[in-house]
Amino acid sequence: MCGIAGYVGPDDALPVLLNALHRVEYRGYDSCGVAIHNGNAGSGSRRIEVAKAVGYVDDLRAATGPIPGGVGIGHTRWATVGSPSKLNAHPHLDCTGRVAVVHNGSVENHYQLREELRQRGHRFRSETDTEVLAHLLEEYGSTPEGVAEALARVQGPYAIAVLFEGSDSIIAARRGSPIIIGLGDGENMVGSDVPAVLERANGFIHLEDGDIATVSASGVEIRHRGEAVRRRVHHVRWGPEVVDKGGYEHFLLKEIHEQPRVLRDTLAGRISADGHVNLGLGLDRRTPPEELFLLGCGSAAHAAMVGEAFLAALSDTRVQALEASEMVRPKRRGPGAWSVLVSQSGETADTVDAARDARRAGHFTLALTNVPESSITRAAHAIHHLRAGQEVSVASTKTYLAQLVGLYLLGLELFPPSDRRRRQMAAALRRLPEAVQQALAMAPQLEMLGTRLAAAEHAFIIGKGINYPTALEGAWKFKEVAYLHAEGFASGELKHGPFALLDTDTPVIAIMPRDDTYERMLVAVEEIHARGAPIIALTDCDNAELQSIAQSVVCLPPTDPMFTPVVSTAALQLMVYYCGLARGCPIDRPRNLAKSVTVH
Ligand code: AGP
Repeated sequence: MCGIAGYVGPDDALPVLLNALHRVEYRGYDSCGVAIHNGNAGSGSRRIEVAKAVGYVDDLRAATGPIPGGVGIGHTRWATVGSPSKLNAHPHLDCTGRVAVVHNGSVENHYQLREELRQRGHRFRSETDTEVLAHLLEEYGSTPEGVAEALARVQGPYAIAVLFEGSDSIIAARRGSPIIIGLGDGENMVGSDVPAVLERANGFIHLEDGDIATVSASGVEIRHRGEAVRRRVHHVRWGPEVVDKGGYEHFLLKEIHEQPRVLRDTLAGRISADGHVNLGLGLDRRTPPEELFLLGCGSAAHAAMVGEAFLAALSDTRVQALEASEMVRPKRRGPGAWSVLVSQSGETADTVDAARDARRAGHFTLALTNVPESSITRAAHAIHHLRAGQEVSVASTKTYLAQLVGLYLLGLELFPPSDRRRRQMAAALRRLPEAVQQALAMAPQLEMLGTRLAAAEHAFIIGKGINYPTALEGAWKFKEVAYLHAEGFASGELKHGPFALLDTDTPVIAIMPRDDTYERMLVAVEEIHARGAPIIALTDCDNAELQSIAQSVVCLPPTDPMFTPVVSTAALQLMVYYCGLARGCPIDRPRNLAKSVTVH
């Protein structure tokens, strides 16, 4: 996934673009660049001037001198086709240098188009798929019709912004990848996401698939299949501060500590004191689920696994969590088949595809997402909004816990347990923000453990039952934030193979709340102890037997056994953060990653 920005207005575009790109840098950050229509409108010598850099936007800022001109586009890249390099960084130009384009998506037929264009005399500079767009746009011209014809040749998702020499407008278009127009006073912006336009916009428009927008300082004209259309204007809910760190050293730490408030927001107005849940989705008017698929990628897939364990405990309905990329050709089903798509960004290509495939197969599709105006919400029948607020750090933390609570609420609405058990769970959910707050207050102990883990080369994380996905998620975070090779295992599986890797240098984190898996976890931990591996036990009860076999025991606040993944994950997140810090990792922008992966 990549970050796009564009500015058109009375001020020099360069500083506005650099700030905008910095705000969407979490979408991709291996290289970046800007293209500016330099000079002032009407002066004959105007041309498109390009500046690029490998690395972060700050590197580009440092390497680029002033470029006058109030019309420009910019891009921060997560490499797909073509290695991270200055040559492959966007914007890309056509042969004449009179067309500049930035792109988020993939030109799936770029080999064929490149060959065809070569035969018509076009010469290519980069290895990227995007460059074919610049040459196509050069051929078809700058009118919305010409742009539409050029894009009709392209297979695959795209969001683009284009500069044509001589024009004081930016052309923006999308199909399957988000792009928004930021509306200011006498100036307008283009961006991949709201933070890109925050500095100058007080309202914004989400382009729809097939829209082509001509954005000038004075206004926006949107065409769809040749017809002028109007799109709803949304008002910016966040100020620029929401994408600032609020005094924390990293967004990751800020977002970890936002979790108690986020959980309160996710729960607000959705569950009554006696545990009745109403998500406002009209589920009572739907055919109840006879089978239910929970689909997501990465951490969202782990959340889906927690959801599976929870729903399976409430009902005999067949529930299956799957990585969305594995949900190929879902079987045709009647309205009793449901697919719940878990995606904080709502833009993960595999999850959006799974939503479309499931809907085509007759499933009722429900999107659990943090971005109500995202591609997944256009693909699904209904939306359950996580209300976690903008999450900037690439590693998902507050949106992960919000996904868990969102799935708990869904389960309680679909399969309400007995009155007594329902009231119990409702009370535990209401106490969950406080329990997470208390877990985060254990930061000194968790920091010490995380820092100690920084010296390890490998680590195991084990869990059982509803906390097996917690082990997977914890290992995932150690990989992506601390670059530590951590593996998550179901505790009962170790002795069937992974024991061979255990030695005194391989720390094992055991997630063992006092629930019906505790005794079995204790057996596993004793077997590990017998092999000399150091053990860190995350539990919610202080007991002598653990003290004698675990090197460290973290006694977390207790909660309902079904909700322990929330509290344990919050503790793991802090350990991961301090481990990453000790290992000198970039924390918010891990190498090779992006905030959401809008390509396959
Ligand atoms: C989580 O820390 C990762 N950043 C990644 O696994 C993420 O969960 C995955 O890409 C899915 O993203 P989504 O929730 O936006 O669909």
